[in-house]
Amino acid sequence: MLAFSDLHVAFPENREIVENLWPESAADWLLLAGDVGELFEDIEWALELLSRRFATVVWAPGNHELWTHPADQLKLRGEQRYAHLVQLCRSLGVLTPEDPYPVWDGAGGPVTVAPLFVLYDYTFQPPGTSDKAEGLAMARASGVVCSDEWMLHPDPYPGRDDWCRARVGLTKRLLEQRDPALPVVFVNHFPLVREPTRVLRYPEYAQWCGTEHTADWHIRFNSAAVVYGHLHIPRTTWHDGVRFEEVSLGYPREWRARGRGAGRPRQILPDPGSAL
Ligand SMILES: [Fe+2]
Ligand SMILES: [Fe+2]
Repeated sequence: MLAFSDLHVAFPENREIVENLWPESAADWLLLAGDVGELFEDIEWALELLSRRFATVVWAPGNHELWTHPADQLKLRGEQRYAHLVQLCRSLGVLTPEDPYPVWDGAGGPVTVAPLFVLYDYTFQPPGTSDKAEGLAMARASGVVCSDEWMLHPDPYPGRDDWCRARVGLTKRLLEQRDPALPVVFVNHFPLVREPTRVLRYPEYAQWCGTEHTADWHIRFNSAAVVYGHLHIPRTTWHDGVRFEEVSLGYPREWRARGRGAGRPRQILPDPGSAL
């Protein structure tokens, strides 16, 4: 079971990495934790290619897929755009947060794989602020404002935080119906806990990186691992004994600086850290 995120295939160098991405065995699954691209045709290109190569592809949306970019032929916004992306995935056999959670029976299994779409709600407050308005005011004053503010439309919800709250409620209900005997591998674009955002260069940016409402999900739902991206800071961290894997490729200037190992998906199961 491999995982990758933030492929950002609008960059030709990143597209080349995706073109050269092959499974190690015919049974390999690929978990994609969002930010495949921005334009519908780019997302379609990457998902179509990868769905032909991997036994199973699981996708969770990133903020970039949810943008309504002026250059995109697809003009849909918000929930309608998300629904259209889910339709695309269904036509390719790619699993999404709208499908029954699949079970991985391969090495390290059985585990339930749960792709999530829970977005963010500005509760990862920057230091010295106490609510969304103050946090956003601080971000504006420092010039660190996520492009989602004008590209990711929450329609029909009034705000991205309202959309997030709806998704959190719905997702919690789905998780409560899962088989409680199996551990869960979560796939979410954003980290489920706040700690990984503490290393952001601009702390104001954390507001667009998750929600406090998922802070205990890795414990409550017996998580074997949490796969996420968005931060473009690939690494492994441990929270309450649960392995969190940030699996971003990121922008060419970012992965070039990383050198060895960049441009490859991460193995999630079997746990490469366990002595098998
Ligand atoms: Fe990204
Ligand atoms: Fe992102």
